[in-house]
Amino acid sequence: MAFRSEKSRSSKAELYVKKIRNGTVIDHISSGYALDVLKILNITGKESNTVAVVMNVPSKLIGKKDIVKIEGWELRPEDVNKIALISPNATINIIKEYDVVEKKTVNLPRDIRDIVRCSNPACISKKEPVDSLFHVTEVEPIRLRCHYCNRAMEKRDILGQFYRSS
Ligand code: CTP
Ligand code: ZN
Repeated sequence: MAFRSEKSRSSKAELYVKKIRNGTVIDHISSGYALDVLKILNITGKESNTVAVVMNVPSKLIGKKDIVKIEGWELRPEDVNKIALISPNATINIIKEYDVVEKKTVNLPRDIRDIVRCSNPACISKKEPVDSLFHVTEVEPIRLRCHYCNRAMEKRDILGQFYRSS
């Protein structure tokens, strides 16, 4: 008679969604933000990729977290900074034949260039052909300050832009 070990039983119980074969797992997303991560990545569910979304699961690192698993899909380098804006603790795992072949932590730079638009209509960055530039004043929840006009931008302002631009 075969007994399953305690360890394998507990690790099975902890896995909400099965492992993927090839693709990308975005882990340690700030809880409640998995759908915003998909929005930022322009993944609508109309693609043929299998997508798994797990929300509000316990995490040793950040209390509660979300996870997004996308089969047959690779993250574009320019998306990494966008994810950092809303989930500074996220890790990006590249999966090949069931193995994690690369694990990247997202990195929120001190200055954010050309990703977020200033919400001040009078800002010089809206009138002149210059890249927008913001300084990070808080990390979680994110808060930015416009280099040109000092306008403060909060998480919901930043997220709103990803929804409006589609
Ligand atoms: N994962 C997956 N499919 C695979 C391999 C891993 O879906 N074939 C998922 C795991 O479920 C986990 C994430 O990818 O959510 C990272 O896997 P792994 O590095 O094995 O887990 P941990 O060591 O717990 O990662 P970390 O140290 O980043 O918390
Ligand atoms: Zn501005």
